[in-house]
Amino acid sequence: MSVPTTSSSLFSRNLRKDYPIAIRGEGCWIVAADGRRYLDASGQAAVVSIGHGVPQIGRAMAEQSNQIAFAHTTQFHSQSAEKLAARVLAIAPTNFREGGRVYFTSGGSEATETAIKLVRQYFLEAKQPARYRIVSRKQSYHGSTLGAMSVSGNVGRRAPYAPMIPEWGHVASCFCYHCPFDKTYPECNLACADDFEVFVQNNDASTVAAFIFEPVVGATLGAASAVDGYTARIGEICKKHGILLIADEVMCGMGRTGKPFACEHWGLEPDIILTGKGIASGYAPLGAVLVAPRVVEMYEQGTAAFMHGFTYQAHPVATAAGNAVFDFLEAHQLLQRVEPMGRELRTALSKLEAHPNVGQVRGLGLLQAVEFVKDKISREPFPKEAGIAEKIRQAALEKNVLTYPSQGTVDGTRGDHVLLAPPFTISAAECQLIGDALQYAVEKVFSV
Ligand SMILES: Cc1ncc(COP(=O)(O)O)c(C=O)c1O
Repeated sequence: MSVPTTSSSLFSRNLRKDYPIAIRGEGCWIVAADGRRYLDASGQAAVVSIGHGVPQIGRAMAEQSNQIAFAHTTQFHSQSAEKLAARVLAIAPTNFREGGRVYFTSGGSEATETAIKLVRQYFLEAKQPARYRIVSRKQSYHGSTLGAMSVSGNVGRRAPYAPMIPEWGHVASCFCYHCPFDKTYPECNLACADDFEVFVQNNDASTVAAFIFEPVVGATLGAASAVDGYTARIGEICKKHGILLIADEVMCGMGRTGKPFACEHWGLEPDIILTGKGIASGYAPLGAVLVAPRVVEMYEQGTAAFMHGFTYQAHPVATAAGNAVFDFLEAHQLLQRVEPMGRELRTALSKLEAHPNVGQVRGLGLLQAVEFVKDKISREPFPKEAGIAEKIRQAALEKNVLTYPSQGTVDGTRGDHVLLAPPFTISAAECQLIGDALQYAVEKVFSV
């Protein structure tokens, strides 16, 4: 007999689950229809940067909508999209500044799809039609559409659709806490980066078009950063073999790690950067593909026409939201808050580190995670069935704190962490509430 589903008309994420109705947002808080207030310690899914309920954003969107809500990009550009593109390029790594361009989408997955096709056509324009493979990393997430899933290495999210997605090659991630080679940095000599080079050598380098990676891996590994030297080595390998480099900063970009783009922590200058989430802080569905001048030039010298498009690309109202979010970030100097508030959050979480089942607290800026282990010495994870991440989420929820739980941290199946990515407006007192809620959760979940 089937278990009854809810009465919702939405095809929800889980048809058996009741979801509270969110009716209002106030800074770092979400208020539900029953009056309950939740502290948004995860910025939902690392989306909300300026906080909830900022009225200026809605006003800017309404103003744009009243002027012109929509004009198709085959016929018009809009002032709001032009303005936002210039602003995004102005904060991008320096190689994007002179002659870079931006392709706006309605979210991160569309940005990945766009990049995959952009790269393929780049090599057609370059008269290198054999290049089509986009190599990516195990334990990564680049989106939920089929093209984006073909590069994603998130085993759990890929599995049901495996027969429908091509396999272009997945190489090791840079993840020292569970190093896939059982080595230690820096003695490892960046074996994880070499894994990419070995793959390219063994799989006909002339078919490889691009390498895509998250400089700070968000949902899949839980705020795991590249180590010093890694991105430089990856850049060298790409250069040596004529491969384009794509940094997926859908989650870690737009200031979340303390720099406008995370690749700037290592001075990396990719050919393409993907972003989303924070670019409109959740006020509108918006993503972006930043294209470096050398890629743009190849198109300019070729057909100049990208064979790709979405009805809602560069949407005037969505990009107006992006501009208003940019204005708010600038007016309140919110990017400058990320590093100090990241330290504040880390201090609030520091007590957790003594717990025998807390393996590591890690992250950059306001993209942090807590990983849970069965054994602190061997770093052995709990079995999947123990459902630790979800139990932690539920326990933290008892304290009205919202976290972003994930499983599969270690190998795609085993391993648990919760991601924390609060709005940049978070206060020290709110950081403490997050620390206290997780302390409570850890004590509750591991006491049995
Ligand atoms: C690194 C990364 N890339 C791509 C995506 C897909 O973005 P979206 O869910 O907006 O389609 C995500 C979403 O979590 C992400 O974290």
